[in-house]
Amino acid sequence: MSDLHPDLARILISEADIQARVGELADQIAQDYAGVERVYLVGILKGAFIFLADLGRKLSVSHTVDFMALSSYGKRGALGGEVRLIMDLREPIMDEHVIIVEDIVDSGRTLAYLQKSLSGRGPASLRTCAIVRKQRREVNLTVDYLGFDIPDVWVVGYGLDFADKHRTLPYIAELKPEAYA
Ligand code: PRP
Repeated sequence: MSDLHPDLARILISEADIQARVGELADQIAQDYAGVERVYLVGILKGAFIFLADLGRKLSVSHTVDFMALSSYGKRGALGGEVRLIMDLREPIMDEHVIIVEDIVDSGRTLAYLQKSLSGRGPASLRTCAIVRKQRREVNLTVDYLGFDIPDVWVVGYGLDFADKHRTLPYIAELKPEAYA
């Protein structure tokens, strides 16, 4: 594609494919939570803000949103990083039907940390949703609502960044190795 940024090798998932899949995930969630008073979407910053906005706008069941911010050392390729809580939820989630919304599951450490932390707060139910999941995983966990499985390459766009760049691209693209070398 001629107008691709020089940092990018190729588009992995197009905008149209993302939007179609987000619609399917929203339909599936609406079906699964039919009859529930409300769903509680917890977006993980920064990466999940775009996916959460699209998912929420396509979701036909009543829902509310809140956010957490986490960070971990040794991200993206390095092993053994420790997850740190930067910003917590504003409200308790006791008796709520919570869905954690993530942009990416990479090592799985962030999601594992969140599942442990949030399940201890007494939600009525707790599920997970991510737009992409890499093959490489240190932690084995279930993603209840998954957009796409992707190869172990550095990806940007649709919330995903490299050094805070390329986050707002409407598609998901592979970064050239020389861009992060
Ligand atoms: C990314 C992403 C997930 C996490 C997944 O966040 O948003 O939260 O990494 O990685 P893991 O499965 O290896 O734990 P990042 O720390 O890059 O922060 P950001 O969303 O603010 O860019």
